[in-house]
Amino acid sequence: MGREIYAVANWKMYKTAREATDYVEKLSPKIQYCKTNVYLAVPFTSIFSVSAFAKETCLSVGAQNMSDAKEGAFTGEVASFMLKEAGASFVLLGHSERRVLFGETNECIHRKVLRALQDDIRPILCIGETKKERDESRTEEVIEEEIVVALSEIPKEDAARLILAYEPVWAIGTGAVPTSSMIEKAHAYCRTVLGKLFGQKTAEKIPILYGGSVKPSNVESIVSLKDVDGVLVGGASLDPEIFSQIVMECERIERK
Ligand code: PGA
Repeated sequence: MGREIYAVANWKMYKTAREATDYVEKLSPKIQYCKTNVYLAVPFTSIFSVSAFAKETCLSVGAQNMSDAKEGAFTGEVASFMLKEAGASFVLLGHSERRVLFGETNECIHRKVLRALQDDIRPILCIGETKKERDESRTEEVIEEEIVVALSEIPKEDAARLILAYEPVWAIGTGAVPTSSMIEKAHAYCRTVLGKLFGQKTAEKIPILYGGSVKPSNVESIVSLKDVDGVLVGGASLDPEIFSQIVMECERIERK
């Protein structure tokens, strides 16, 4: 039995709560009978309303970040148990915009992964190399370090709840998509690293998504690649019509 397919929308800092429910109203009838796992990573302010609305649908709602602390005097932060109560079932962690613009380190992301698992929120760990790192042939070294540090000390039984998203930083929001062989190589390497951490059998169960300039016209060729279990979509997820086309392309793919 092959791994399931995921289409994850990352709205970034777009859409008010009202715009978010309008979006779900438009998207949900289009994807009603899908077997693809459709996840929406929405701004904090929309989690509650969207998850209430999405209850009757096959959508899962999540956050794009969370605090690494349990609770406390951390002005402006949001804790994972708060997300859970608001209706989030997953959280994006370590997105390159968090790493680059907000200084998140692998160690901080590691603490967030542990915290999310403790509070029963499914972490989607984002990793990927910059253009410079790829040009210096350091892609494998960089993604290995990101995975190993973020996922150390995670018990094997929790590992199957993880999702990994390989997002080359140079492909995010640029329209530049890596070649199929680059994607396959990076995903195979991610799975090898997961195998070293958790054993091959568990590594085989962890979905590895691709992210970076995904659109309806390239999703089928990407998700058909070996070791690619779906997509994480930024810009092309903001319009429910376009995102539903991406989900429909995922539906057409027969799992090997
Ligand atoms: P993009 O963003 O699809 O707009 O390239 C992907 C992401 O940031 O997760």
